[in-house]
Amino acid sequence: MKHLLLIGPPGAGKGTLAKELNNYTQVSTGDILRAEKASGSELGQYIQSLIDNGKFVDDETMLKLLKKNLPEKTQLIFDGYPRNLTQIPYFEKLIKEVDSDYHLDIIFFDMDLNKLEDRIINRVSCSNKDCGEIYNLKNKAPKKEDTCDKCGNELDKRNDDNAEAFKERLEVYKSNTAPVAEHYKSHKNFHKINADQIPQKVLEEVKNKI
Ligand code: AP5
Repeated sequence: MKHLLLIGPPGAGKGTLAKELNNYTQVSTGDILRAEKASGSELGQYIQSLIDNGKFVDDETMLKLLKKNLPEKTQLIFDGYPRNLTQIPYFEKLIKEVDSDYHLDIIFFDMDLNKLEDRIINRVSCSNKDCGEIYNLKNKAPKKEDTCDKCGNELDKRNDDNAEAFKERLEVYKSNTAPVAEHYKSHKNFHKINADQIPQKVLEEVKNKI
């Protein structure tokens, strides 16, 4: 089966793209962590103390939660894993376990890092996890303030979508995740896409490449 791996800085549009690729099931490690945080468990409290400040969760916890939340027998979009070099061998083992005959396309979101903070600060998304529609108060505002156009639920702002946490997330991206993209650069299905164009164009570019 065909699967996708999305790699890109915070706010590059990974979640926005994943929502448009209907033949795939998105596996977002950020969403998995936020769901655990919302459960109020002890683990959720530990996760909150890290992700709200833009810091990574430890590899062992991340892998355990990912395995627990991995759908089977479907085309997957890996959004957020692997996110550092040490997670790569675990990812490669895991994907073989779920699909021994897998084909992987790797999408790298190329973008001027100076433009990301504006996207992050203006992001709001639907609080209904089954919907999760992503908005932007500057370029994709909801028709009615604080209300999802699609399902009518309230819109939420993420705790890590502020200037301070974003600064940390960007530094962590540069030191931990950019090397993952570098690692996969020579992979035969590595596709660098221009993330600095309207979402419809990003989608078209990706569809033409996969
Ligand atoms: P995660 O939820 O994965 O956050 P992220 O990687 O920082 O990515 P974002 O969700 O912020 O951005 P996105 O690229 O999806 O952008 P979006 O489409 O929403 O991870 C959160 C945290 O969890 C991490 O910081 C870390 O602590 C932890 N974590 C996750 N994985 C981990 C792992 N493997 N190991 C350890 N810890 C882990 O778009 C953003 C905004 O821009 C929106 O408003 C949107 O409308 C707008 N927009 C999107 N595309 C465009 C476009 N083309 N043009 C204009 N605006 C656009």
